[in-house]
Amino acid sequence: MKTLVTYMSQTGNTKKIAEAIYGEIEGEKAIKPISEVKDLEGYALTFIGFPIMQFDIPPMVKDFLSTSTKGKKIAIFMTHAVPEGVEAIHSWTGSYEQAAADATILGAFDCQGELAQPIIDRLLKADDPQMKAFGEMGPSTKGQPDESRVNKAKAFAKEIQAKA
Ligand SMILES: Cc1cc2nc3c(=O)[nH]c(=O)nc-3n(C[C@H](O)[C@H](O)[C@H](O)COP(=O)(O)O)c2cc1C
Repeated sequence: MKTLVTYMSQTGNTKKIAEAIYGEIEGEKAIKPISEVKDLEGYALTFIGFPIMQFDIPPMVKDFLSTSTKGKKIAIFMTHAVPEGVEAIHSWTGSYEQAAADATILGAFDCQGELAQPIIDRLLKADDPQMKAFGEMGPSTKGQPDESRVNKAKAFAKEIQAKA
């Protein structure tokens, strides 16, 4: 059984989780950015990871999920700047279920990832008070995903493999 770990990552947080998951996988495996994946032919299981952006999943990931996951076993992993458990996260991440409606989704994992400094700087200058508040939260995300979050991602990888 060959497993693929594929991800989108701009500042390295999701990549860090991807590598942790990859390290836990037994058997034949591959890891690559989504931009380098043509289709999921030959993979019995695929972990697909991405950051939450603009309160949603990134459009290129949405496209990939809807065009390339039909009939496949997949697991989702995501990073976001807000702490885990914030109610709103569900409305941001939920669209992967719709985009991958023809796949078998074995599970999903999400954790906090550091908000990059240029983004914090930009948000702090925003007129929208919601965006400003988001920027003010930025420094509290430093160092994420930390070791405890990485370990949770490793446990997720094991759990998904057992299901697959
Ligand atoms: C343009 C942009 C929009 C973002 N929007 C959100 C958001 O809506 N909610 C959130 O919690 N984090 C948001 N973030 C933070 C990222 O999801 C978080 O920093 C993530 O860990 C980045 O992953 P990466 O390093 O793999 O790119 C945003 C980041 C960027 C750059």
